[in-house]
Amino acid sequence: MGKDNRIRILSGSASMQLLEKISRYLDVEPVDTYVGRFSDGEIRVQIRENIRGDNVYIIQSTNPPGDNIMELLLLIDAAKRASAKSIAAVIPYFGYARQDRKDAPRVPISAKVMANLLQTVGASRVLTVDLHADQIQGFFDIPVDNLYAIPVFKEYIQKKFPDINRDDFVVVSPDAGGTRRARLFARKLGDLPIALIDKRRPRPNVAEVMNVIGEVEGKVAIIVDDIIDTGNSVRSASIALKEKGATEIYVFITHGIFSGRAREILDDAPISEIVITDTIEGNEDRLPSKARKISIAGLMGEAIRRIHYSESLSVLFL
Ligand code: R5P
Repeated sequence: MGKDNRIRILSGSASMQLLEKISRYLDVEPVDTYVGRFSDGEIRVQIRENIRGDNVYIIQSTNPPGDNIMELLLLIDAAKRASAKSIAAVIPYFGYARQDRKDAPRVPISAKVMANLLQTVGASRVLTVDLHADQIQGFFDIPVDNLYAIPVFKEYIQKKFPDINRDDFVVVSPDAGGTRRARLFARKLGDLPIALIDKRRPRPNVAEVMNVIGEVEGKVAIIVDDIIDTGNSVRSASIALKEKGATEIYVFITHGIFSGRAREILDDAPISEIVITDTIEGNEDRLPSKARKISIAGLMGEAIRRIHYSESLSVLFL
């Protein structure tokens, strides 16, 4: 008798809440998995159910990076040695993606190192959300599906602003790299106009606004981006937008890292609301007071279901 074609889903310790939510969406039980530590700090994992011949989905965000990356690699290796048929690394937040090119002498391309590690241990595909740069897909020789949080944000915005319109709203990218995302978001929200912040980074984690490109006066500004880390980019963007006459500022950012003094910095900024998703867990005590987390679990669950049954993912980008 052939094996049933169940979705076998498990996670490392960085994405346990998402595992629960995605399992509920898919109506499957997570695979019993142990993730712990030896007394010297080394990670010990064990998949405690038979997964021989199964398609396995391992969910693990890689923030904070160190141990979470290692857990993910060890879980993939465990699944490979347990004779899983395929292993999808489901990485809601893909860390090291911002180091995606050699932009200074003697620096690594860290995103490529991540890709090498995942493939070497045995991942057969990757599913992620708002990868910092789409072209990182090319660092892999296995399929990489990069979902956008835009449909989840769109639903939220349309409930909050049922009368959203071209005259009173503008979508803003806080840097030139995010222009494509802002344009796409603006189109989904009914062809809203866009504006760009001309940002300069004199050194890592420091953002300086040079110019606001586009018309924002008298409009509600909707800032959209992939990552909020120290909060500096969004804070300086919000101040520049206010100075140029934006009436209110709402922020929609997929991955909420909130490192360092992000909470204080953002509590002090002229922002009405910061909406993030739950790709990163354990950041609850670092969230600014105006932050609100909405779940990406339905979108990710649907992507897993479609991958599993070899259905198209295109509909998730509409
Ligand atoms: C950079 O290109 C990213 O898209 C984000 O804008 C950036 O990582 C945000 O970092 P921070 O919050 O530290 O300014």
